[in-house]
Amino acid sequence: MSLDVETNGAMHEGKKSKPRGPKNWIIAMDGPAGVGKSTVGQLVAKKLGYHFINTGEMYRALTWKAIQEGVELTDGDALTRLAERVKWEFRPTEGGTTLKTYIDGEGVTIQIRDEKVSRNSSLVAGVPGVRKYLRQLQRDLGEAGAIVMEGRDITTNVFPDADFKIYLDADITERAERRYRQLRQSGKDAAQHEILEAMAARDRQDLERKINPLRQAEDAFVIDSTHLSLHEVADKILEHVRERKRRRQRSRK
Ligand code: DC
Repeated sequence: MSLDVETNGAMHEGKKSKPRGPKNWIIAMDGPAGVGKSTVGQLVAKKLGYHFINTGEMYRALTWKAIQEGVELTDGDALTRLAERVKWEFRPTEGGTTLKTYIDGEGVTIQIRDEKVSRNSSLVAGVPGVRKYLRQLQRDLGEAGAIVMEGRDITTNVFPDADFKIYLDADITERAERRYRQLRQSGKDAAQHEILEAMAARDRQDLERKINPLRQAEDAFVIDSTHLSLHEVADKILEHVRERKRRRQRSRK
């Protein structure tokens, strides 16, 4: 699979991956909505010369496509067939670091932030067939390593053997506050209590989902970012990665 990655289906579960080192480690990252995973992930990936991918975009892109095509959002089989039928591509942008999702040739960065997509993406993310298909795409994207991948089940389900498993957390009030500031900065009006309620609802959906709910992997490096800037969080992860690299070098001497 090229990096201008086109995937139409080759499912090959259970394939053994090559030994990995600092040049091609897999950094998996999970955490609740609004915790800064994308910003942090991009900072880390850029510093290491890795790629970055936000897997929430895939669930959102499929939700958008389903709405476009009039697929019933409660019809799990139809959603699974749609996931299997469309052409998925992941093209590098932002200096080559970030892989953006294209569906049937269309970049959907803006469309997938639509309110209707946001509201419905948890329905799509709850369909076992969709998750199975997207997990394979995510594994295909990540198996060559040199990647930071973030989502809800990357450390527990997609790459349970990732070289680094990071769980980012922050108080819900702080996450809602950050989202509020972001919206204000982009000129949008928003009521703080509504943002907090929406955030609580998203947490419930992620944590209470029957299939692959958000969980801390037992061996995850947990970072609480409530009182840290996102640059400080990225620095902590980078230090963790560099420490592993130093230990490796020492043990090889
Ligand atoms: O991170 P986000 O809000 O853009 O994610 C969109 C939806 O996809 C949300 O309902 C959580 C879900 N998701 C998931 O179930 N598993 C992932 N690995 C990433 C996102």
